[in-house]
Amino acid sequence: MAVEAKQTCYEGSVVRNFQFYLEHSGEHSAILQGVHNILPGELKRIGAGKSSLDVLGVGSGGGEVDTQMLALLQSIFPAVPITADIVEGSSMLIDNFKALVAKTPGIQKIPFTWHVMNSENYGKEVKAKGCMKRFDFIHMIQMIYYVDNLADTIKFYHSLLKDNGTLMIMVEAASSGWNTLWKTYHKELCISTLTEYRSSADVIACLEKQGLKYEEHAVPNSFDITECFDPSSQTGAQLLDFMTASEHFQQSFTPEIRAGILDLLRNKCSTIKDGMVLFNSDISCLLVHA
Ligand SMILES: C[S@@+](CC[C@H](N)C(=O)[O-])C[C@H]1O[C@@H](n2cnc3c(N)ncnc32)[C@H](O)[C@@H]1O
Repeated sequence: MAVEAKQTCYEGSVVRNFQFYLEHSGEHSAILQGVHNILPGELKRIGAGKSSLDVLGVGSGGGEVDTQMLALLQSIFPAVPITADIVEGSSMLIDNFKALVAKTPGIQKIPFTWHVMNSENYGKEVKAKGCMKRFDFIHMIQMIYYVDNLADTIKFYHSLLKDNGTLMIMVEAASSGWNTLWKTYHKELCISTLTEYRSSADVIACLEKQGLKYEEHAVPNSFDITECFDPSSQTGAQLLDFMTASEHFQQSFTPEIRAGILDLLRNKCSTIKDGMVLFNSDISCLLVHA
C-alpha cells in the first residue's frame, strides 16, 4: 500500500496561528532587515552579465518576503526580465500570495508559475518530466523543518541552480530558543507534523557532508512572550500553540510537561528586560553557492 505523504503545508487553523505569530513576533521585519543587509551584494553577483533571471521560492507562504526580494532584484537589474516559480502546498497561503502580487506595484509584470504542491511532489514532477528549469536564485525561508528528507532536498534544489546561482536557506539558529525548546522536548513535540527538529546546525552539518560551499549570516530577532506566563491570556495561549505546534497547549500536555516547558522558555530560551520575557528567535541565513 502506498504511504501517504505527511500533510505539512499550512491550512485552516494553522494558517491563522501562523498569521497571529507573524503579527506578534516581528519575524518578517527581522527577515526583511536581513534581506536588505545580506542580499543586495549577493544578487548583484548572481545576476552579473545575465540576460534573464529565474527565481524559485519554496514554502513561500503568503509571499510577504518573496515580493520584497523580487522587487529588490528588479531594482538592481531593471532591464533584465525576471521569472518567479513558487512551490507552496497551502492553497490558502497561495491565494494570499496572489492577492499580494496584484497589489504590489512593479512586480505585477513578473510572470509567476504556481506549483501548488509540496516540495516532495515538485521534486517528483520535475524528475518525471526530465527537463529541469534551472534557477539563478532559490530560497527556502523558515520551511526546511517540514521537508521529508533534509539531505535529498538540499541536493535536489542545489542541482537546480544555474552557474553562479545561490540557494538561500533561512532557518532558526542553533543558538535560538527554538532549538533549545524543540531539542529538549523532542519526545513531546516531534509527534505529528514534525518528527524531527532541525536548526541551522543540522542544515550546516548536511551542507558540509555534501561538500557544498556556503556562507552563514545572522538575522537577529527576539519577541515578547511575557503573556505566555499568564494562564488567562488569549495571546499567550495562541503563541504557545504556535511555538509548540500543538492545537491547544493547555490540553495537549500534562501539567508537569507544561510547567517544564514554561520554565525552560523563561529561563533557558529568553532574556528578561524591563520585566518582559524576550524569546530568542535568532535566524540563520545560509547562502549556498552553485
Ligand atoms: C513557517 S511558514 C514560512 C512561510 C514563508 N516562507 C515566510 O517566511 O513567511 C512554512 C511554509 O512552508 C510550507 N510548507 C510546509 N511543508 C512544506 C513542504 N513539504 N513543501 C513546501 N512547502 C511546505 C507551509 O505551507 C508554509 O507556507
